[in-house]
Amino acid sequence: FLGAVGSELNMPTYIVGGFVRDLLLNKKNLDLDIVVEGNANLFAETFKKYFNIKIVEHREFLASSMFFNDGLRIDVATARTEYYKKPAILPEVEMSTIKKDLYRRDFSINAMAIKLNQEDFGILIDFFGSRKDLSKGIIRALHPLSFIEDPTRILRAVRFEQRFGFEIEVRTAELLKQCAAEGYLDRVTGQRLRDELSKAIEEPLPLKALRRLASLGVMEKLFPETEFDRETDIRLQRYFLRRERNALLIGEDRMFYTLLMIILRKSDSKSVEWCIARYGLPKNYLERLNDAIATAGIIVNEKPETPSQFYRSLKTNKPEILNFVNSYLDEQEDLLFLAYLKKLNDTKLSINGNVLKTRYGMREGPEIRDVLDELFCARLDGLTKDKEDEFVREYL
Ligand code: CTP
Repeated sequence: FLGAVGSELNMPTYIVGGFVRDLLLNKKNLDLDIVVEGNANLFAETFKKYFNIKIVEHREFLASSMFFNDGLRIDVATARTEYYKKPAILPEVEMSTIKKDLYRRDFSINAMAIKLNQEDFGILIDFFGSRKDLSKGIIRALHPLSFIEDPTRILRAVRFEQRFGFEIEVRTAELLKQCAAEGYLDRVTGQRLRDELSKAIEEPLPLKALRRLASLGVMEKLFPETEFDRETDIRLQRYFLRRERNALLIGEDRMFYTLLMIILRKSDSKSVEWCIARYGLPKNYLERLNDAIATAGIIVNEKPETPSQFYRSLKTNKPEILNFVNSYLDEQEDLLFLAYLKKLNDTKLSINGNVLKTRYGMREGPEIRDVLDELFCARLDGLTKDKEDEFVREYL
């Protein structure tokens, strides 16, 4: 029906980008990006005559988003050429043809279109050898300035490479490295980089993507003064391998937070502060990182032998911190960690501060907390069962 509206308005209408790529790869993609050679805002308004949709216009980009009741969203844009007034800053746009519109895109595999107008319905538009690259498994920048115009494409290239098991073509890899080495990533906002990096680590092979970014000289630009060394690699391996399981046993962490803790664990506080500002991390992130490092140190060096010792070495039960600590542990230590953690989660005291006050005349204050803590530890280590009362008597 999109094509019919296009024809009614005499606008050549195409579906473009990721949808076409994934269609040819036989992969599901519900991201519907439409490009029209004409006014996209008018297209959306006309479409609204036939369907009950809500429209959000993005006039400066000559585009509209159409929202259907069932949650479906279709984006329509006017075929455009973009002028980058400065590299890495969002571009000015101007109406143009589908060919130019496709040429301004990142990689050849993302630069195909399928025509939707009834008369030519289903014709594949491939100006740049995209289909061949797709079948050969190649990520190729469409033009030499692609990364400079939008340096987040550096992260996209690596993301697609890992997702599809493709390879970044040699010349494209050169352009990518050069763009990173010349510091263009510094011109992009931290939020955009954080979004892209988060997407990259949510793909099925996150560690491969990070290793690749490191070998292309990108990690050192994203996180100056940090080393992506063998030890970091091992910790990340454990983290990603156990993440799904840990989400159930420890709790969902914010992947970006834990990841950064692992990467920044040896950095000085100045570099961490820099990252906090750059990537919009919470103000107390440095404090949390220091807590996490201290906890990991205690657990690794002192090797708790009882659940209560374990409990006392944990400064917090924040999932990011527990995941971070867990990444220090080999398989055997990991099993013990989980057993202790389970014990901690399953243990509840049936006595509380009120009982101590009313029955034992204890006064409000730190003493009550200490007694409860001690009772909890005794319970953890199996020294008491349900008889806290007796225990309290014994201890008070
Ligand atoms: N695009 C681009 N440069 C970018 C981002 C996007 O050229 N920095 C173009 C590409 O043609 C891409 C399309 O815009 O196919 C849509 O972008 P997006 O939805 O972000 O990506 P997809 O290719 O659909 O990838 P994904 O499957 O990860 O959503």
